[in-house]
Amino acid sequence: PFVVIENCIKCKYTDCVEVCPVDCFHEGPNFLVIDPEECIDCTLCEPECPAKAIYPEDDVPAGQEGFIALNAELAKVWPVLTERKDAPPDAKEWDGKPGKLPLLER
Ligand code: SF4
Ligand code: F3S
Repeated sequence: PFVVIENCIKCKYTDCVEVCPVDCFHEGPNFLVIDPEECIDCTLCEPECPAKAIYPEDDVPAGQEGFIALNAELAKVWPVLTERKDAPPDAKEWDGKPGKLPLLER
């Protein structure tokens, strides 16, 4: 499956959700995750993310491996999102900032 990594936190552009043919994106307060049990590896979402926050599970950047389990865990509790919505007004300021994991809201 594909995995959403740290740079989505506080950016949450949601461009990714519209292209997913199996509706496997789940939305939290300031982050999105992919349900690994639903993802069919179609690859369509990866180029849609302006924050480059979507990777194949086998290719997540070094240090981001914890997001594989985090996607699986949070997909079970967060609701599905299928329609694009406005990003947070300060999304651009957070894009690319390291160390956002402690800011993840559940
Ligand atoms: Fe959905 Fe395809 Fe992305 Fe998996 S790879 S989350 S199926 S758009
Ligand atoms: Fe997040 Fe990128 Fe989707 S910032 S909400 S993974 S478009």
